[in-house]
Amino acid sequence: MSEEYQQPEDFEMSPDHVKAGRELFAKETSFVLGVAHLSQLPKGRNVEVAFVGRSNVGKSSLLNALTGRKNLARTSNTPGRTQEMNFFRTANDGFIVDLPGYGYAKVSKTDVKNWTELLKSYLKGRAQLRLACVLVDSRHGIKENDHEMMTMLDQAAVPYQVVLTKCDKLVKAERSVIIDKTRTEIKKHAAAFPEPLLTSADKKIGIDLLQGRVMALF
Ligand code: GTP
Ligand code: MG
Repeated sequence: MSEEYQQPEDFEMSPDHVKAGRELFAKETSFVLGVAHLSQLPKGRNVEVAFVGRSNVGKSSLLNALTGRKNLARTSNTPGRTQEMNFFRTANDGFIVDLPGYGYAKVSKTDVKNWTELLKSYLKGRAQLRLACVLVDSRHGIKENDHEMMTMLDQAAVPYQVVLTKCDKLVKAERSVIIDKTRTEIKKHAAAFPEPLLTSADKKIGIDLLQGRVMALF
């Protein structure tokens, strides 16, 4: 990690996890299936890590950076690009799940309702789910609907890592401010790892630590 992009002071990650994560994601991760209804969820016992967050926060981009594949998950300038839950299989048979974003104003009310129901049922009832990565745009910080998501994860007792995305868009002083603000917000939530992780899919910041976090839970 370059001096310039400092993680929060107390961010903890064992070097063994970072190494194992790097080794895992050096191998191929591949697309398995898209899911639009709960009945289509994979039935096996593969453990899962889900990427959640507001529309356009950078979920698909970070997933590509995590797996070292440019176009594994489709990214877009248009919010609402990812419409299904997309399942990807890692080399150790874990699943990474890219979820459609929430908070996109132009989607119809019925679609939002259906999607929220699907997401809630998935997050609450999925025994295979070991970790959620809650992605938050570092320029905007945690919003009301992120708190709702985090509260849902607290209640479902799903551990989660808050991940600040697109940190390349901020100058150093702004990064310290958003890190401090986010840490304060995270303290209100029981199931969250105590420190946010600062990332940029574009500049490949924090990717090694994200790989380690995922690996540790697999
Ligand atoms: P939905 O699937 O619509 O919910 O969006 P998403 O959260 O998957 O976002 P996506 O990865 O498609 O990225 C949205 C936009 O943000 C794209 O234009 C990306 O190029 C841009 N973006 C993503 N990550 C970064 C980053 O680390 N830095 C910068 N500068 N831009 C980024
Ligand atoms: Mg997406």
